[in-house]
Amino acid sequence: MSTRSSEQSQSTPPGVRRERFGTTPDGQIVERFTLTSPSGVTIGVLSFGGVIQSILAPDRRGALADVTLGYDTLEEYGRDKSYLGALVGRYANRIREGRFTLEGREYTLAKNAGGNHLHGGMRGFNKAVWAVKPFEERGDIGLALEHVSRDGDEGYPGTLRARVSYRLTRDGELVIDFLATTDKATPVNLTQHAYFNLAGSGSGDILGHSLELNASRFTPVDATLIPTGELRSVRGTPFDFSTAETVGARIGADDEQLRLAGGYDHNFVLDRTGGAELALAARLTEPVSGRGVDIHTTEPGIQFYTGNFLDGTVMGKGGVPHRYRSGLALETQHFPNSPNEPSFPSTILQPGAEHRSRTVYHFVVRPT
Ligand code: GLA
Repeated sequence: MSTRSSEQSQSTPPGVRRERFGTTPDGQIVERFTLTSPSGVTIGVLSFGGVIQSILAPDRRGALADVTLGYDTLEEYGRDKSYLGALVGRYANRIREGRFTLEGREYTLAKNAGGNHLHGGMRGFNKAVWAVKPFEERGDIGLALEHVSRDGDEGYPGTLRARVSYRLTRDGELVIDFLATTDKATPVNLTQHAYFNLAGSGSGDILGHSLELNASRFTPVDATLIPTGELRSVRGTPFDFSTAETVGARIGADDEQLRLAGGYDHNFVLDRTGGAELALAARLTEPVSGRGVDIHTTEPGIQFYTGNFLDGTVMGKGGVPHRYRSGLALETQHFPNSPNEPSFPSTILQPGAEHRSRTVYHFVVRPT
C-alpha cells in the first residue's frame, strides 16, 4: 500500500489529486482525478466515460459553485442515459435508422433513440473505463485518456484508437484535444457532453442564461431529430443567437423546429472565415452570478441542447433531481447523420490518417 501511494505521488503532479471512485460490475477500478488551477477553477474527471463530474468556478465575488450536472456514484453513471459530462463516441449525435454504407458495404448500428442510432450506441465511449495518465506541461496540468474500441464494436468497422487530453491552464481554460486513428475506414465524431448550469448545478433551470452562438445557419430536423440536409438561415427565427439572447426568451415560440425537438436540440453551423482553426463557437453567461464560459473549437458545428429530456425522475449530485431544463449542453461536433448526408463535411476517418480536433472551454467572470 505504501509503495503504491509513493508511486502515485511521483506520477501525479501538484494540482492533481487522484483517488479511487468505485469498481464496475465487471471488476474494473474507476478513479477520480481532481485538477485545481490558480484561477480557482477546479475540475473533477472520472476514468469511467472520461466524465467531467464537477466544475467549480468562481462568481463575481469569488464564490465557487459546481456548474456542471452529474452524479455522486459510479452506479448512477453506469445507469445514466443523459450522457452527463461524458466523452461521446464513436459517433456523437444521431445516425439515421442506425445504418450507413461505406465503401460499398452496409453497416448496422444499434437503434437506441426512437429508431435512430445515438451517441455511439448501447455501450458507447461514455461507458468505457479509459486509461488515464496525469501530466504537467509548462505550468498547465492535465490528463491523457486513452480508449481502444475493437473492430466491430457497436457495429462500427475497424479498430479505433481514441486519445483525449484534458488540459487545465492557469487562467481557467480547459483545453480538450481529441485524436483518433483506425485500421479500416470508419465514421468518427467525438464530443464532450457536459451540461452547464452557471448558477450552480441543482439551483434551477437554465432559461435565464444568456447565449451567443457564432452561427448564421443551423440544420433543421425531421420529427426524429435527423437533419433534413438543409442549412437554414437563423435570421428572423428563434434560432438567431448571433447577438446574445436569453435562452428562455423564445424557447416557447410557435415554431415548427422548436416543437419537433421540444425546445432547442439542434446543430448550429459555425461561421468560419479561415479553414478549421480554433474559432469562437459560443459564449454563455449567467447574468446574476456573472459566471461565463466561452467555447472555441475546430469543429464545424455545435449542438445546442436545452435539457428537454431531463424530467426530474433521476437524482443528481447531493440528491437533487435533474429537473426539466436544469442544464444545457453545447456539444462541439460534426453534423448529425453525416455518414448518410454527402453534402455535410465528411466524418470518415481513413487508415493512416488522424482525426484531430480541439475544443476549449474558458471559464470567466463577466463584469456587470
Ligand atoms: C444530445 C441529443 C439530445 C439528447 C441528449 C442526451 O444532446 O441531441 O437529443 O439525446 O444528447 O439525452
